[in-house]
Amino acid sequence: MSFDGADFRRVLGHFPTGVTVVTAMDDEGPAGMAIGSFASVSLDPPLVMFCPAKDSGSWLRMKDAGSFCVNVLGADQAATCGLFAGRAEDKFEDISWTTDATGAPVIPGSIAVMDCELHAIHDGGDHDIVVGLVKSLWTDPGLEEDPRGPLLFFQGRLGQFQDF
Ligand SMILES: Cc1cc2nc3c(=O)[nH]c(=O)nc-3n(C[C@H](O)[C@H](O)[C@H](O)COP(=O)(O)O)c2cc1C
Repeated sequence: MSFDGADFRRVLGHFPTGVTVVTAMDDEGPAGMAIGSFASVSLDPPLVMFCPAKDSGSWLRMKDAGSFCVNVLGADQAATCGLFAGRAEDKFEDISWTTDATGAPVIPGSIAVMDCELHAIHDGGDHDIVVGLVKSLWTDPGLEEDPRGPLLFFQGRLGQFQDF
């Protein structure tokens, strides 16, 4: 190969993503991690996907839960992104999370939420490719009166969306 890991990261860093926090509940309580590799997959059935690192401590807890919740962060939630990208023992300590269809934690202030049943886990090298069947989804009802844009991630930096 004519490139190394640093080249791969640098070039792929030119593709901007939104930021989600994917959560699940296991016997020890809530677990969650910041995820940029989220995408929609299928409308019928309604499927979405994300790619967690196989050695992520959070993912190792979440993968046996059978369900997960995708919380799309708003531009005002950079601190939440930092919290869930870190390795704190209890990332939920100061979060007043709730639950919906599957029991996976819903992060307050998210601009959109997709609560999912685990559908499939495919091999993706050092990451898993996780597919979820959406059981329930909604956007923040406050968005109509108080529109908030998404949190974005580009070249290792957080930012927000701007219209042309
Ligand atoms: C904006 C952003 C996007 C991220 N996207 C992913 C991702 O798609 N997959 C992944 O495995 N880690 C991703 N991470 C890193 C994980 O959030 C981080 O490695 C994880 O929370 C580490 O803690 P853990 O011990 O809970 O796994 C991302 C981090 C940030 C800041």
